[in-house]
Amino acid sequence: MTAPVDPTTTSAWAELTKLHEGFTPDLKGAFASDPERAQRFTFDAADLHVDLSKNFLDDEILAALLKLADEVKIAERREAMYTGEHINVTEDRAVLHTALRLPSDAQLEVDGQDVVADVHQTLAKIHDFAEQVRGGSWTGITGRPISTVVNIGIGGSDLGPVMVYEALKPYVKAGLECRFVSNIDPTDMAEKTKDLDPETTLFIVASKTFTTLETLTNARLAREWLLGRLKDSGAVTDEASSTEAVKKHFVAVSTALDKVEAFGIDPNNAFGFWNWVGGRYSVDSAVGTVLAVALGKQAFTEFLSGFHAIDEHFRTAEAEQNVPLLMGLLNVWYVNFFQAASHAVLPYAQYLHRFPAYLQQLTMESNGKSVRWDGSAVTTDTGEIFWGEPGTNGQHAFYQLIHQGTRLIPADFIAVATPANPLKDGETDVHELFLSNFFAQTAALAFGKTADEVRAEGTAEAVVPARVFEGNRPTTSIMAPALTPGVVGQLIALYEHITFVEGVVWGIDSFDQWGVELGKQLALKIAPAVQGDEAAKAEQDSSTQSLIDYYLANRKR
Ligand code: F6P
Repeated sequence: MTAPVDPTTTSAWAELTKLHEGFTPDLKGAFASDPERAQRFTFDAADLHVDLSKNFLDDEILAALLKLADEVKIAERREAMYTGEHINVTEDRAVLHTALRLPSDAQLEVDGQDVVADVHQTLAKIHDFAEQVRGGSWTGITGRPISTVVNIGIGGSDLGPVMVYEALKPYVKAGLECRFVSNIDPTDMAEKTKDLDPETTLFIVASKTFTTLETLTNARLAREWLLGRLKDSGAVTDEASSTEAVKKHFVAVSTALDKVEAFGIDPNNAFGFWNWVGGRYSVDSAVGTVLAVALGKQAFTEFLSGFHAIDEHFRTAEAEQNVPLLMGLLNVWYVNFFQAASHAVLPYAQYLHRFPAYLQQLTMESNGKSVRWDGSAVTTDTGEIFWGEPGTNGQHAFYQLIHQGTRLIPADFIAVATPANPLKDGETDVHELFLSNFFAQTAALAFGKTADEVRAEGTAEAVVPARVFEGNRPTTSIMAPALTPGVVGQLIALYEHITFVEGVVWGIDSFDQWGVELGKQLALKIAPAVQGDEAAKAEQDSSTQSLIDYYLANRKR
């Protein structure tokens, strides 16, 4: 295992510290003095057109950030990832989500496994199943085709599928609906199934480990719901027809196929993947089976090609033009030198409304760490908070704080040129109105509005300070021709690699997630107390005991 390089000991860090000390943000001045600035700091990666010019960036800063990348050995670690070294050290695993989107003629053998052959064999099985569902030859117990697919999963087994399903709605097969149940709050299952016809419903139980409490509980609830309804209608009458119903209405996605079988799902109806795929990096594995059903083979293949295009860019583009590398380094610049605690992601595409939620797991489960991959403490802040909502909705909610608040919040704005739904309001193309907001916001954030400009509008002097915009709020603008399956794959891969870059600088294992374990363990310990077990309650702290007492006293049955 190569020890992480402490970034604070590098000469690039010293340079960045100096540059930061002498830095007064002046985006207006930077643009005024360099007419080429926009061009110089705009880069293309596959279909993504990325404008970094409204960031706190100049040639010296860029050079120092790239030097930092060299000194912490990002290129070596990137190659180690692509070639299957066990860079997830705390779990002793390779990190090979990039292999999930390799073309079938690529070659990669890792730990004795022909990775590409296995990936494409599974893809073929998934598409065969998906085409049966889409074509109506996969039928439920009463012979009717499937009209609703319910994906049961949580975390990486939910957030990716639901985000992409929403993002690619125009590509979803007409007449087919997908729903997503994740929360162990029984309301989730109740609401998602209450109007469904069990005869035409298929459940996909997606869980990498097939041990996750939420998913297995929901899978059992779904089985009970299905069999109960089918019994009521007479479609299920005995043990044999129950087994047959589960076979026809349940498939599974997991790395633990033995556990799938133990649950009662036919192993022939299970789609596997491998422990070198992290949950939050798994939407392009069998976890995307619901998407293969919804979108079909062509769109799903284009989706994977999108990831691959960015993988290639990240692996081969020159550092000076390597978009994920530059964006990851800029994030480090803001987190560690400007103390930016959060980063907004603001898609101007309604179909991307779940993208910020998806990114929260990708970025924060990856980089929310306090120890490095050799077990030593981190030497810098890590893991900024990612958050966001689609524009223009966010403009009427939290943009006030980004424009005029006291905190620096770097923001990524995402938009596509071609609307999926080109509607007109009279003569006005509404997408143009929408994109005008996208363009306006980054300009307003960068350049602000001076007191003199405010006064020139005839504003009363007492109100002038409240109406001044300082500007110098850094943003990145990401544009693409349209929200196609390929572009959605590219966007996901872009953020996967940004996350990787930040993790390497900080020296952390971005691929484990031990921080979710304690709460899970405690919930299991506390469950008996919630069910009235006094001895179990007595083991809890006084705050927890009194909360449980409140619950027990107020729960109506
Ligand atoms: O929240 C922890 C976690 O392990 C995530 O990393 C993962 O995506 C999620 O739970 C679901 O896990 P599984 O797919 O094994 O059910």
